[in-house]
Amino acid sequence: VAVRRVLGIETSCDETGVAVYDADRGLLAHRLYSQIALHESFGGVVPELASRDHIRKLSPLVKEVLSASGSKAEDIDAVAYTQGPGLVGALMVGACFGRALAYGWGVPALGVHHMEGHLLAPMLESDRPEFPFIALLVSGGHTQLVRVNGVGDYHLLGESLDDAAGEAFDKAAKMLELGYPGGPKLAALAGQGNPDRFDFPRPMVNRPGLDFSFSGLKTYTLNTVTACKEAGELTEHDKADIACAFQDAVVSTLVIKCRRALQQESLKRLVIAGGVSANTQLRAALGAELDKLGGRVYYPRPEFCTDNGAMIAYAGFCRLRAGLHDDLGIKVRPRWPM
Ligand code: KG4
Ligand code: ZN
Repeated sequence: VAVRRVLGIETSCDETGVAVYDADRGLLAHRLYSQIALHESFGGVVPELASRDHIRKLSPLVKEVLSASGSKAEDIDAVAYTQGPGLVGALMVGACFGRALAYGWGVPALGVHHMEGHLLAPMLESDRPEFPFIALLVSGGHTQLVRVNGVGDYHLLGESLDDAAGEAFDKAAKMLELGYPGGPKLAALAGQGNPDRFDFPRPMVNRPGLDFSFSGLKTYTLNTVTACKEAGELTEHDKADIACAFQDAVVSTLVIKCRRALQQESLKRLVIAGGVSANTQLRAALGAELDKLGGRVYYPRPEFCTDNGAMIAYAGFCRLRAGLHDDLGIKVRPRWPM
């Protein structure tokens, strides 16, 4: 029997996401529980606390999503869960829960690659790109340019040789004492900064190729912060100006590499996905660039840019529909190249 309705579960980091995707009617319901408040006072995600909170929230969220989607247990044809990459304990919670549900319901289960979820998230929108397209995946753990020919047909064109873009945002935010989660806080502050005060380097744009490197930019940021402190104190103005210069440098680096990738592959469709794709300046800059190139940029709605269950339900649906599923073993892959 063809798989029609899939329950998706995401627990790779600090968000518990659950969703139901249907072959005919698309996304029926989704719920997200963010653990931000739990980890805030620690300045970052505490893995053991994350696992425990996923345990606490999964069952109620699944019940809610089943009811909101008008599904009974017997309407679900398969379960998809994030198998990696991510925090091992957090992944184990979702994998055990998803596998056990599927076993109890007598349906197949499948472990999904988290980044494939991000990559396919724009397909949840009614205005979705056609294959092939270039995808820029920018999250806390990845910065990758991928040529996507179809579901499961991905060619890595370039990636970060050190920090991911989101990680760089988070680290720069920490230097500016902005707290956790740093990326969105830094982005908000950048809007108040003076763009003409500092000029940060654009890493690796003068070298050919599609790889990225953000560690030099991180050092440059630290040096600028230190210089401000040595000159007296790090004022709110300084912080905003540094945030602005940092964001400009990351955004223009990403834009330059996206243009290069599109030209190299002779494509005009660009997808951006992953947490950093929620960044409004990045969206505006890529939109303007694609206008110039006579192409278009596609992205998921903001809530599906960061981690969520809908993208896992959808990526799982595509693969389960093609007949793929896992055996009864429960395996997670904290590190897993796509
Ligand atoms: O995809 P995601 O939710 O989780 C991972 O799979 O990593 O991405 C989280 C990352 C974090 O590094 C966060 O700081 C960054 O995305 N992020 C942003 C923004 N919103 C989230 N970075 C820059 N600007 C934003 N608006
Ligand atoms: Zn993610």
